[in-house]
Amino acid sequence: MSNEAEVEAVVTAVKQSTKYGDTSEATIRELAAEAVRQHKKTKPAIKAVRARLHSIMAPYLGDPDYTAEATRLDAAFAAHDDAAIEAICQDCLYAHLSTRERLPILAEFYERIFAITGQPQSILDIACGLNPLALRWMGLEAVSGGRSVRGQSAVSSEQLAVSGGRSVRGQLAVSSEQLAVSGGRSVRGQSAVSSEQLAVSGERVRFYAYDIHEPRIAFVNHYLKLEGLEPLAKVQDVAMDFPQEAADVALFLKEMPRFERNYGGRGRPLLEALRARFLVISYPTISTHGGRNLTNRYREFMHQLIQGHDWPVTELLFAGELVFVIDKRLGD
Ligand SMILES: C[S@@+](CC[C@H](N)C(=O)[O-])C[C@H]1O[C@@H](n2cnc3c(N)ncnc32)[C@H](O)[C@@H]1O
Repeated sequence: MSNEAEVEAVVTAVKQSTKYGDTSEATIRELAAEAVRQHKKTKPAIKAVRARLHSIMAPYLGDPDYTAEATRLDAAFAAHDDAAIEAICQDCLYAHLSTRERLPILAEFYERIFAITGQPQSILDIACGLNPLALRWMGLEAVSGGRSVRGQSAVSSEQLAVSGGRSVRGQLAVSSEQLAVSGGRSVRGQSAVSSEQLAVSGERVRFYAYDIHEPRIAFVNHYLKLEGLEPLAKVQDVAMDFPQEAADVALFLKEMPRFERNYGGRGRPLLEALRARFLVISYPTISTHGGRNLTNRYREFMHQLIQGHDWPVTELLFAGELVFVIDKRLGD
């Protein structure tokens, strides 16, 4: 078999697999070309690509049922039922570990970040996962017709206190208990801006999102359209193809350590190439498996990554997530 035919055979086999078939073809092709250079036979090359994809796609972090959730969203939007829309968004955020861990701090998370960057009108969400479904909790005042949503949260601190360590899903479900301790504030009142607020004419937020998981991106675009926003999510491998769009803020949440491991050394050039005034890079503070505290290690890692750049950095420490807000405007 020629080299090209070999690559094609590997791409076809991986594209047909249940576990990794949803991955961007460009990503699979790049990995296949590399694997074919290293392995003489097709089978070991396929195995090598699957092993790389396990680390890159991290399927163990979880996914919602995209078709079912899209149908639920359609019905909730058709009924103009904000409470139902927000409950579905929360279910989707819960389905993936990165966003599940962020649920209890969601509104505070964006409030503190945007207090530094200012309210963005354009955002790049790089390696987005399900994070765009948090849009209603981002407190985007600049595009919400001036109504502040600060202080509103998906799950309030009072709710967390009463839940006594129960899972976030449990917390979201027991609303009567939560209402009792949250001073009667309804879940509806706490959460979120509505579609109209996100889509005030002429001031719509431009939410670009990038991922290599095809159904995830199709679902994110489906959601953005329902919110009346432009479907700016893209299947794009940001290691091969740095985003070119300009924005106020670029989010690169909880992916840098894996990204550096998977694409050795492309983290720094990616940060340099991004056309955003502020970079928001985050890290989990606790390891997925061992429960080790990673704060010091990732703080050092982040500073090494941008060493030599005169970029002012603000560190924000949340329960479960360490965030660096990097100002590229003032630096080189
Ligand atoms: C750990 S999740 C983080 C999701 C999100 N940033 C968050 O914190 O909620 C990593 C995501 O990055 C995506 N990803 C991994 N490598 C990528 C690449 N080279 N280009 C674009 N997306 C990538 C994965 O498909 C996955 O959805």
